Amino acid sequence: MSEIPDFQAIADEAVASIAAADDLNALEQARVRFVGRKAPLTEVLGSIGSLPSRDRGRVGKEGNAARKAIEAALDSRHAMLEGEAMGSALLADRADVTLPGDHFALGALHPITQVRLEVEEIFLGMGFSVADGPEIETGFNNFTALNTPDGHPARSESDTFFIAGGEHDEVLLRTQTSPVQIRTMQTTEPPVYVIAPGTVYRRDDVDATHSPMFHQVEGLAVDEGLSFANLKGTITYFLQQLLGDRDVRVIPHFFPFTEPSVDVSVAWTDRHGRTDWLEVAGAGMVDPNVFANVGYDPERWTGFAFGFGLDRIAMIRHQISDIRLLYEGDLRFLEQFS
Ligand code: DAH
Repeated sequence: MSEIPDFQAIADEAVASIAAADDLNALEQARVRFVGRKAPLTEVLGSIGSLPSRDRGRVGKEGNAARKAIEAALDSRHAMLEGEAMGSALLADRADVTLPGDHFALGALHPITQVRLEVEEIFLGMGFSVADGPEIETGFNNFTALNTPDGHPARSESDTFFIAGGEHDEVLLRTQTSPVQIRTMQTTEPPVYVIAPGTVYRRDDVDATHSPMFHQVEGLAVDEGLSFANLKGTITYFLQQLLGDRDVRVIPHFFPFTEPSVDVSVAWTDRHGRTDWLEVAGAGMVDPNVFANVGYDPERWTGFAFGFGLDRIAMIRHQISDIRLLYEGDLRFLEQFS
């Protein structure tokens, strides 16, 4: 060889091509071109023996340095391109979760259930516990033990869904949650502080304020020395918690199982701005006959009881003027409470 190649220029060119190789194929071509078996650099290094002896040392040193630099550039570019290839493979494989997903409508609690849970919360806060009873009851629990003897008008066919039985052993859909008072007292020693929310049934024709199936929450407190003031204070506090400050009216009424008995109403302004009293509960002091029926000593124990209409409360709460809306299952109505 007459002239010693410019190893620096070879190395520079190779490093530039390697840097420009933008995939593993292009890089392989650059490797073959600069350090492959037939690359000029390889040939020079392979024929050092034929060089004049004075050039051999320099060619060997500079040639190998160039080769090393090229191989280092190849290695690092290779690692980089491989990483990129892996990255784009992962990218191509990825699940795209950025698109809007399928929309599943979430359910929500029915407005009556929402009100029931709030009522339970308030009474739990006052130290009451929550009791439960069956919707299919005996005539004894639903009427007789509640001081409503056979032949009483409230027991008549026109009000009650009878299921089976005759005059003294009727089975019926409970017309009120009051039988849970009897069940509780039959199984618990006083003092008693319970509420019992639930569904009740009456043979009423459906209209804006009547439904043959509706909801009540019963309350019963039995202790020594309870007075009408305790009843009034409990009801007033409860209504204030649930409905905010509004006038509460308590007027005399009659129920067979309480004496005295009252009707409880709250002031209600409808969506047209008309204010009226709306009856929300019956209540009273537990009749001594009821205590006698469950084996409590009427001389020792006194008590008060109440029964709220849950549907009424939900209607007041949400300015609903027709009870049928609560039972039709129309999503346009129900979605307003989710
Ligand atoms: N059970 C009665 C009804 O359905 C409501 C009621 C009145 C419940 C007075 C009571 C009470 O506990 O003391 O009309």
